[in-house]
Amino acid sequence: MSLRKTSAAASAPGKIILFGEHFVIYGSHAILASIDRRINVSVYLNRTQAINIRSSLGIIGSYIDSEFTLIKGGENAKEILDPIFKCASCVLSERKQNLGMDINLISEVPYGVGLGSSAACCVATVAAVNSLFCEPNKEWICVKAVECERLVHKNSSGADCYISVFGGLMYYMRNEGFKKIKSKKDLTLIIVNTGNKHYTGDLVSLVKKFRDENVLLFIDLTSYANTICQKALAAIISGNEKKLGELMNENHALLQQIGVSQRKIDHAVQVCIKNGALGAKLTGAGGGGSMIALIPNENKMKVISEIERNRYECIPVKIDYDGVIIY
Ligand code: MEV
Repeated sequence: MSLRKTSAAASAPGKIILFGEHFVIYGSHAILASIDRRINVSVYLNRTQAINIRSSLGIIGSYIDSEFTLIKGGENAKEILDPIFKCASCVLSERKQNLGMDINLISEVPYGVGLGSSAACCVATVAAVNSLFCEPNKEWICVKAVECERLVHKNSSGADCYISVFGGLMYYMRNEGFKKIKSKKDLTLIIVNTGNKHYTGDLVSLVKKFRDENVLLFIDLTSYANTICQKALAAIISGNEKKLGELMNENHALLQQIGVSQRKIDHAVQVCIKNGALGAKLTGAGGGGSMIALIPNENKMKVISEIERNRYECIPVKIDYDGVIIY
């Protein structure tokens, strides 16, 4: 396929998982929302054989034929840049091209804390590189981004890429696709970042170990997680926030049971509940990272000030309805 331009740009949103993380890998449904924090990727052809990547995390690296050279950054620089390189080379090989390019990435999504930064990087990179060659097609971008994300975290359910591509509030079924959810009320959600970073792949492996050692129990827990998701869908559609909060607490207890919650997350969940949240749970892979809380508007300031008094970062967010944007 021939080039239609020599530079391109795209952005993709981060996400929160309201229900079903981890269990979604084993067949449970999940509910996700994309958030108004984006990763922006711009690409410029550079007339060399190198793919040079510069990230706003302060990392610069260069790849020639998959050989990585660190130009600037710390010990996990390669781990952060590899998915971006894989996305770019995957699109180039699909388009039967061998081109060098400079990729600049600017992120508003905190890295490694469960807010979908890695999926958003994959989506925005696939979208930007692909638009050098053809008109945007969200389905294609999604399939490719999931494929590339699986090169990094091989058991990915694909849910994070789906929500980043299509945006909004989504009911996700692995292998069956998704449907958009129309919420009766605007949900007032806050994100709390404990600041403890994690690697999704490690947490997914931990859960696999738990499952292998507790086969029958895990089947029951997955089925319970699925029931919670279905009830949550009904609660969102009917605007029953009290019920939704209770279901978030139940989902959090399940995540504690499979060992992916963590001391700071549990503490932040307790602070939110004690100060008037209707429900709270970890979001994403766990092992640190972030949690979310559903709060009645009248308690919002109280919850936020208590969270901040306990030295956690509170991230105010709105649901994003655009998904990936190609400029
Ligand atoms: C990570 O954001 C969500 C997990 O369920 C992994 C996945 O769905 O691929 C933990």
